[in-house]
Amino acid sequence: MRRTMVAGNWKMHGTRASVAELIDGLRGLVLPNDVDVAVFPPQLFIDRVIKGLQGAPISVGAQDAAVESGQGALTGEISSSQLVDAGCKLVLVGHSERRLILGEQDETLNRKFAAAQASGLTPVLCIGETLEQREAGQTLEVVERQLNAVIDEFGIDAFVNAVIAYEPVWAIGTGLTASPQQAQDVHAAIRAQLAQKNSEVAQGVRLLYGGSVKAANAVELFSMPDIDGGLIGGASLNADEFGAIIRAAGN
Ligand code: PGA
Repeated sequence: MRRTMVAGNWKMHGTRASVAELIDGLRGLVLPNDVDVAVFPPQLFIDRVIKGLQGAPISVGAQDAAVESGQGALTGEISSSQLVDAGCKLVLVGHSERRLILGEQDETLNRKFAAAQASGLTPVLCIGETLEQREAGQTLEVVERQLNAVIDEFGIDAFVNAVIAYEPVWAIGTGLTASPQQAQDVHAAIRAQLAQKNSEVAQGVRLLYGGSVKAANAVELFSMPDIDGGLIGGASLNADEFGAIIRAAGN
């Protein structure tokens, strides 16, 4: 059985004061024990979030990591081994904001994915189509291509220790959510694509949905058979709302 996961992507939000408040709120949550919970703060706050959440059943991850796993001369970057040293467990790879705003390509993302695994971090590979691509009927083709970029280079076993987040770009931060059925259709296609290579890996990998998830729509989304939880942006900045989403994922 796949364990459900609910992860909060704080993006480029937070001040020392608001992060302290959020940590307090998270510490106060009563969490179901059948859900893995994680938060992805800005790099600047990772250390304080890890310290602040000590003893709470919440993992901390990074929103990005360097293309190299070890330390070195790479100004401005943070390596996955440094993140491990800080206490991180996970890292987002290929969030659409990095693909589309910063122009990160598959080749760079593959290096980040591999560096993360080499250091012992679990990569959360984010994939998803734009509105234009959906309207052109290219959704499945796009996510298949994004997934194949990893499979072609590292093989299907790369997903033994990875999480996949399907995030339709048109649903991110827009208030538009994919309907549970729309999301389920894509998740099922992703799992089928993986199963063509290895059904055990396909059955084991967690597929999170992301894109305007909130407490009000979480139960319906998480009840779909191939949706194993969510990657939550805006709603994860409010501890009570995030807590309600986590409870929606529990049984
Ligand atoms: P959102 O963001 O929940 O604010 O739509 C999700 C994400 O980008 O991970």
